Amino acid sequence: MKRRNLIAGAAAALVFGQLAGCARVDRTETGSITAPDRSAAGQAQPAASPSARALRSAASNRGLYFGAAIQSAALGDSRFRSNVVRDCSIITPEWAMKWDSLAPGRAYNFSEMDQLASFAARNGLAMRGHTLLWHKSLPRWAAAALASSRDWTLIEDHFSKVIGRYGNQVREWDVVNEPIEPEHGGNGLRQNQFYKAFGESYIQRAFETARARAPRARLVINEYGLEYNSSYEGQRRLTLLRLLERLRSRGVPVDTVGLQAHLDLRKGKVYADGIYGLMRDIGNMGLKVAITELDVAEANTGLSIERRDSLVADETRRYLDIVLQFNNVLGVSTWGLNDSHSWLRTQRSAANRGLPYDRDWRAKPMHGAILTAFA
Ligand code: XIL
Repeated sequence: MKRRNLIAGAAAALVFGQLAGCARVDRTETGSITAPDRSAAGQAQPAASPSARALRSAASNRGLYFGAAIQSAALGDSRFRSNVVRDCSIITPEWAMKWDSLAPGRAYNFSEMDQLASFAARNGLAMRGHTLLWHKSLPRWAAAALASSRDWTLIEDHFSKVIGRYGNQVREWDVVNEPIEPEHGGNGLRQNQFYKAFGESYIQRAFETARARAPRARLVINEYGLEYNSSYEGQRRLTLLRLLERLRSRGVPVDTVGLQAHLDLRKGKVYADGIYGLMRDIGNMGLKVAITELDVAEANTGLSIERRDSLVADETRRYLDIVLQFNNVLGVSTWGLNDSHSWLRTQRSAANRGLPYDRDWRAKPMHGAILTAFA
């Protein structure tokens, strides 16, 4: 398949409106952390859905990991903890490791992230380090300091603190999150606070800074909006590939591409040719792939539950069947594990059913779709 196929379907320019990952919920919308129930912490409880096969073992049979993003507030719920422990071999802090969570004012407070890290350690779970640099999670004080001083030591200091504290547990660092934005013109890179201060070189410097502190971890560039057949997402795929080519030719120590995979039924069906071409070209560069934030936003919550769940499952299966053909995939993480702890509740609708389990921890067809895709 030729590159040009990646932008096939150009006529459908931007008809899909808002893109997954563009609008964010505020950290505070998801509530504050509650103290974990220590009595049960560290022990896997009987699974809520005993018939459900553990996703982690299905993944590991295929040489992959399965993981999920964790809202630290949910750790207070023993049922939540036991399901995570049963299904995941790796977890991603949904917000607790972001710069503005760790240091909303200049002082760092690691307590929320520490709770998550110790939950992971007690249960033998690895962690994804999410995320060192993201335009949406730069605290105000750091944004102001960066704009006025353009001083890389600010970034270096942040990386040192976070990698220094959690580096032993983190297997993959999302070093740079969401650097692509073709609508910002030029080279298609997002004109974020880091770009404004340092130009494109911020990406290279971020990876070099991370590598110096995390010699063995996987270093990831994590991106969204790469799955559908619109000219916009076609441009995003091409821009990402061009960026990766530049980084590779300069010897930048990026070794993994994170595909967020916020699937969205409003955008139609995933675009097999585009995803296939992206995967193939990433693989040809010698890079690994992690599926980092899989979930499915529904188009129509007015249908029957059965119909909705089967549409979500079908889309999941279509996506995973393409990406899992490639042997450079490390694993799959969903962005949450059940519907009551999903960012899609505030992004889209509180009723959205885009994760493997429903609010009562009943495994849904999406769960089966993931198992089948791993088989
Ligand atoms: C989202 C979280 O789910 C929210 O709870 C938080 O308030 C904002 O960020 N892409 C990413 C994630 O890389 O960090 C985002 O997570 C979702 C989109």
